[in-house]
Amino acid sequence: MPKRFLVKSYGCQMNVYDSARMGDLLRSSGHVETNDQEAADIVILNTCHIREKATEKIFSELGRVRRRKLARARKGLETQVVVAGCVAQAEGAEIKARQPAIDIVVGPQAYHRLPSLLQGSSLSGAAIDLEFAALAKFAALPLPERAEIRARGATAFVTVQEGCDKFCSFCVVPYTRGAEMSRPVEAVMAEIENLARHGVKEITLIGQNVNAYRGAGADGSIWSLARLLGRAASVPGIERLRYMTSHPLDMDDGLIAAHRQMPKLMPYLHLPAQSGSDRMLSRMNRRHRADDYLRVVEKLREARPDIALSSDFIVGFPGETEDDFQATLALVREVGFASSFSFKYSARPGTPSATADGQVDESVKSERLLILQALLDEQRRAFSRSLVGRKLEVLFERRGRHQGQISGKSPYLQTVNVEGGDDAAASSAVGALRSVEITSVLPNSLAGRLVDTRAQ
Ligand code: 5AD
Ligand code: SF4
Repeated sequence: MPKRFLVKSYGCQMNVYDSARMGDLLRSSGHVETNDQEAADIVILNTCHIREKATEKIFSELGRVRRRKLARARKGLETQVVVAGCVAQAEGAEIKARQPAIDIVVGPQAYHRLPSLLQGSSLSGAAIDLEFAALAKFAALPLPERAEIRARGATAFVTVQEGCDKFCSFCVVPYTRGAEMSRPVEAVMAEIENLARHGVKEITLIGQNVNAYRGAGADGSIWSLARLLGRAASVPGIERLRYMTSHPLDMDDGLIAAHRQMPKLMPYLHLPAQSGSDRMLSRMNRRHRADDYLRVVEKLREARPDIALSSDFIVGFPGETEDDFQATLALVREVGFASSFSFKYSARPGTPSATADGQVDESVKSERLLILQALLDEQRRAFSRSLVGRKLEVLFERRGRHQGQISGKSPYLQTVNVEGGDDAAASSAVGALRSVEITSVLPNSLAGRLVDTRAQ
């Protein structure tokens, strides 16, 4: 019997992608998606384990899910609760002990077996599947259907790489997502071509360590990310390409050259630096110095002068002194970021730095985070202001909040809102790339006006 399912996604883009693929899978097994939490027969939480708060959020959500499950049971309705993603992988059978309402625990590389797990769990109680089987997973997933792709809009993620071999000392990813694995070139291309056929114009190739991509080509040769991007750019209909997340060490000359050679590769790169202090970078096991990061940035800017950068930073890593923190601020000032994410260090059980000496006081972490975020925010606003009066290509993704308004993304991934004209004009602009003159900067978006005359 078809069931109604709901997938709630937490954390990174990889989870957003996985959630969409779980949806494709359940739809192809006859189930239907719902947004109504009370009506859902299957509730899937696709979880994130990267920081402590993320995990706690999941457990409080699970408390709410349990209450809904009990209320539904009183009406004679069955609810299956699935915990997927990295919390499932990291905590395994133990999360079931902490929250008995859970029926299925499935890791990020085993979710292709969800349909059979769902059948099995109603027969036999809890089912747990945490196998690392990334290639089998991708081979088993159906391609999304036309209606589904249309509903998701003109931009899509495609996972090309999973897992990480870098073992930064603070990070759980090598444990939750396993060793690096790259999808074969033809499998990636089939997915991109299918998306492009149904109107997708922008593809973001994603992976935990995406620029370490080494995928097998049809001829048995190993392709780099730069070569894969080149092939993706040749797919009719694909107008924009992005990739994330990258490690500075894997920004090789071929990939940097791609930024020079490929106009479809957007001039915006997320390149986490984590810290500007060599001492911290070494303790973080990042395997590069602050100078190496700066050299990569210099080469990128030579290749593509208008490239904008974003980064992740951790403050209060064990052993971080005031001088180390100042070195991070110095790196931020030297680079100038268009946007960035910054976090207080939080110990993740099982990672080497969780038990390292010199854990930093919470109050010091909070103070440093405020200072860093003020600087990053100032840089973000300065970057946005520098765009006022300029014409940018915007890919419109949806109707805006106000009547006639349409909303899209700049090449630098900023949200841009414009007046799209009457209903017909606004509708036809959604899904299209249009030229926009930026007129003003709002706290979290840019405002502009359409300047081309196509379709008007
Ligand atoms: N504490 C704080 N931040 C972390 N990140 C990863 N692990 C931790 C941790 N234990 C941050 C890093 C990474 C981003 C996705 O999350 O900055 O790049
Ligand atoms: Fe984690 Fe480091 Fe791998 Fe990024 S490169 S996923 S921070 S271990």
